[in-house]
Amino acid sequence: ELGPYSHFMQKEIHEQPKALSDTIEAVLENGFAAGLFGARAAELLPQVEGVKILACGTSFYAGLTAKYWIESIAGISCDVEIASEYRYRDAFANPRHLVVTISQSGETLDTMEALKYAKELGHNMALSICNVRESAIPRASELVFYTRAGAEIGVASTKAFTTQLVGLFALAVTLGKLRGRVDAQAEHGYQEALRQLPGSVQHALNLEPQIKAWSDKFAAKQNALFLGRGLHYPIALEGALKLKEISYIHAEAYPAGELKHGPLALVDESMPVVVIAPNDALLEKVKSNMQEVRARGGELFVFADLDSHFSESDGVHVIRTPRHVGVLSAIVHTIPVQLLAYHVALARGTDVDKPRNLAKSVTVE
Ligand code: M6R
Repeated sequence: ELGPYSHFMQKEIHEQPKALSDTIEAVLENGFAAGLFGARAAELLPQVEGVKILACGTSFYAGLTAKYWIESIAGISCDVEIASEYRYRDAFANPRHLVVTISQSGETLDTMEALKYAKELGHNMALSICNVRESAIPRASELVFYTRAGAEIGVASTKAFTTQLVGLFALAVTLGKLRGRVDAQAEHGYQEALRQLPGSVQHALNLEPQIKAWSDKFAAKQNALFLGRGLHYPIALEGALKLKEISYIHAEAYPAGELKHGPLALVDESMPVVVIAPNDALLEKVKSNMQEVRARGGELFVFADLDSHFSESDGVHVIRTPRHVGVLSAIVHTIPVQLLAYHVALARGTDVDKPRNLAKSVTVE
């Protein structure tokens, strides 16, 4: 079953070009039409005036990424909340807001209960982004987008996350089209970005030997910090979660601009700092945040794309990621942080596919 791979997690990381192209095929066949999200989508999506995303764990980070797309491409407000928090608070419900739940398994109890609670509060439009057909959460939702990741067995979510991002990106573009904010030219650009994505992800996978070479430097550490800005901030969060989950190293992620507001106090020679720094509008800001780290002796491990113009120097290690595919750069940059966590866990000898204390599907509170 594992073929040439040592673990399901490694296999699933490498299945991403295929999982993504299968999921993208569904999107492109449909041409960002409402029908992509189910029979009632043509009736419901035009009514949507805001989006509320509810999820747990890695799926929550997919939601945080989607917020950037939904607000910039569709031009509607989007808030993202941890399902286990939402379900127990007095929340304000606007029935014109679409509730989007994200769940690989479709069975996560907190996400299911948050959906039920949203309905009690008066929401009547719910969309589920899910990987398991006919599971509980899509069955309780008016609309659904099934990711085509195939079975995910490793406890650490990998291909489910990147395919969820494709579904969420398609939602942003579809809502943008319905609101007249995406013209034919822009739509063509988004289609092209999706078409190129599996190839860019394959290039990122080819970085595995270089990433493996970094893993020994992390294996003996107690802590690590992950930094990103904008769309790459949720990817930093995902990188930190992956590392905690399977290698048991304590890892935190921050938007790089927050360093000075507290976490910089943690930085010294023993703190490795992973930075996701492709060439986007925030790169110069990220570079100055990196100088702040270096000045305190922190060792930098930078994922920079071919246009970022970084060079290695003392205490600064650089891996060149593929030139990013515009808005979808966050998906490409997920691959290196998954591979890093995997190889650090291998170096530490932990049980990669079944980390201690965790279950694949969290059906209890
Ligand atoms: O099945 P779900 O997407 O609802 O699961 C949510 C989380 O339990 C899950 O993403 C968890 O955080 C993963 N183990 C992370 O790798």
